Amino acid sequence: PHSGARAPGDGAPERPRLGSGGAVATGFPGAMLSEVLLVSAPGKVILHGEHAVVHGKVALAVALNLRTFLRLQPHSYGKVGLNLPNLGIKRAWDMARLQLLDTSFLERAGNTALTPEQVEKLKEAAGFPEDCTDHERLAVLAFLYLYLSICRSQRALPSLDITVWSELPPGAGLGSSAAYSVCLAAAFLTVCEEIPNPLKDGEATGRWTAENLELINKWAFQGERMIHGNPSGVDNAVSTWGGALRYQQGKISSLKRPPALQILLINTKVPRSTKALVAGVRSRLLKFPEIVAPLLTSIDAISLECERVFGEMAAAPTPEHYLVLEELIDMNQHHLNALGVGHASLDQLCQVTMAHGLHSKLTGAGGGGCGITLLRPDLERPEVEATKQALTNCGFDCWETSIGAPGVSMHAAASLDAPVRQALDGL
Ligand code: MEV
Repeated sequence: PHSGARAPGDGAPERPRLGSGGAVATGFPGAMLSEVLLVSAPGKVILHGEHAVVHGKVALAVALNLRTFLRLQPHSYGKVGLNLPNLGIKRAWDMARLQLLDTSFLERAGNTALTPEQVEKLKEAAGFPEDCTDHERLAVLAFLYLYLSICRSQRALPSLDITVWSELPPGAGLGSSAAYSVCLAAAFLTVCEEIPNPLKDGEATGRWTAENLELINKWAFQGERMIHGNPSGVDNAVSTWGGALRYQQGKISSLKRPPALQILLINTKVPRSTKALVAGVRSRLLKFPEIVAPLLTSIDAISLECERVFGEMAAAPTPEHYLVLEELIDMNQHHLNALGVGHASLDQLCQVTMAHGLHSKLTGAGGGGCGITLLRPDLERPEVEATKQALTNCGFDCWETSIGAPGVSMHAAASLDAPVRQALDGL
């Protein structure tokens, strides 16, 4: 167990300890600087507990095997470059200019959220063009903030190019911004030798120790704050640790040995406002407390029952366990409808999958957005394909993926799939 989410200012990172290598002592990070780093981090879905979690109940969040990939290329061109092919962003800053910036306002970075005045200073450093979108601004600000805050421990800021490419659709509630912050934090901490490169010679993938992950998560939380203002911290925690997490009132703990479930993740592409949906549940709770409070209590019990079943499955999974998981999904989906966060597109999603004998629920805020369908291990390939086709015919995007994916990882180039390598190199 570990705690990831903190109230603002509480338990956020200390200034990271300096690495023990000569690199930090001399200010010249030596060999590390010639090495390309390839980092990835997963997105997340909420299995159970969305909305109820806002009212102090348990939520179960799991890492999704759709990942964000980062390539860090150190060089000596005196520039720092950021390429975000998904967002069409390609920017570079002169090291000389960044080096001259007075970054003392970042002294306490990592401990508290930046004040609006400090964010203004960062915006000046970014030098945004007039036609910059909000998306671009936030992605660039989080990048510069993490780069300057983490790398200012070096005598000379490292000259490097960063490319980040994601399999996750942005703005779909799948934790794409958290995965971005986690990748950036891990890459900068590694290049500055605040944490070691966990990739051993000849291995495909390396993972950091719990202590190093704690540091990555703390910085990633700061990046998330830059993008989202006041995030709960669950997204960056799932992306850092991977697997499955239980979240309640800011306390996060890992579930031991969650089952490797296969799911369909479906994006209805119906836009929704999380804020409005959360407010809607709150007003329904105020209007009908006797009716709505028991729904929230019941959702809490569903999360606990799911956690209990996962525990049993770790020992010996049986077909009956999957049937229980399906029943829990159905009950929760009905509760979420009763809370008023359903949508015609989500009803259609549930009906289409039910016609193929599969059970689905919304995930995240509802009102459109994404849903998940459990794929039992006994399913035949043609059934899965037919369901995916039927969902695609509704105009939905559909991914077949697993949950409980590993958290932030370092990769050897040869271990990455060709499309990922292409997306990261083709710039
Ligand atoms: C959104 O992904 C999940 C909600 O429970 C909102 C929140 O927890 O902040 C609907």
